[in-house]
Amino acid sequence: MTPAHAQPVMEARGLVKRYGQVTALDGADFELLPGEVLAVIGDNGAGKSTLIKALTGAIVPDSGEIKLDGQVVHFRTPIDARRHGIETVYQDLAVAPALDIASNLFLGREQRRSGVLGTVFRMLDKPAMRRRAAQQMAELKIGLRSLTQAVENLSGGQRQGVAVARAAAWAEHMVIMDEPTAALGVKESGQVLDLIRRIRDRGLPVVLISHNMPHVFEVADRIHVQRLGRRVAVVKPDEHSMSEVVAVMTGALTIDASDQAVVVDQEAATAAGVRPTGKE
Ligand SMILES: Nc1ncnc2c1ncn2[C@@H]1O[C@H](COP(=O)(O)OP(=O)(O)O)[C@@H](O)[C@H]1O
Ligand SMILES: [Mg+2]
Repeated sequence: MTPAHAQPVMEARGLVKRYGQVTALDGADFELLPGEVLAVIGDNGAGKSTLIKALTGAIVPDSGEIKLDGQVVHFRTPIDARRHGIETVYQDLAVAPALDIASNLFLGREQRRSGVLGTVFRMLDKPAMRRRAAQQMAELKIGLRSLTQAVENLSGGQRQGVAVARAAAWAEHMVIMDEPTAALGVKESGQVLDLIRRIRDRGLPVVLISHNMPHVFEVADRIHVQRLGRRVAVVKPDEHSMSEVVAVMTGALTIDASDQAVVVDQEAATAAGVRPTGKE
């Protein structure tokens, strides 16, 4: 268990991002603790993706502060965030279909041969990359027959496995995944959830953005609820039901941060059709 006073791996205060008239982030806070899986949930348009983009340098917020290990950081590009050990698995699967698995793991970070072959002739050290890729896939228990098969011949879940393995291979601080199970079947989703647990068990905290409440309740240690551009609650899945958390997401319930007591807005709850069962 992470002690409550642990220094957050990443922390953000008062993030604001406007697009013309639209306020995508309206003073959003964020906190990722060491060794946890933090789920970020919220309705469409709540600002989840914008929050993640701000944390990973894909956008620069208009105001607010981001700290990594207690130090203020100003990421200008995703490469800045990567240099700080933050790896992001984007929803649209940034894998190169025609390349093989090992090449995908090293995309943008190819290992060159030693000596002039590498420095002058830019020759890739393919055997070394394959060995490292095989080790990484084995550690994460991603079962694949051959690392030389092209990614386009893999199933959706296996492709996702490659994208996640790549993130886990390079991340030194944290892994962020935007809707990693959205396009997957039941079995493949289960494999990705297992992977998330294994990454956490290796000591890397994971941020999981998801719409899927059962998945969130299955793997998350804490749940960040985003609504109208802000974090409105942080809850633990063993302390609240799925229907309560969905109700917080829609604004039908508020959870008082001081005592975590649930406050029902009856009118909004009725309007949102909140039922006692946790089904979406
Ligand atoms: N590049 C953009 N240009 C204009 N509006 C945007 C842009 N990105 C996000 N928004 C708006 O900001 C709000 C939050 O979007 P987003 O962060 O994508 O929400 P979520 O990921 O929770 O669905 C939405 O109203 C969205 O339309
Ligand atoms: Mg989004």
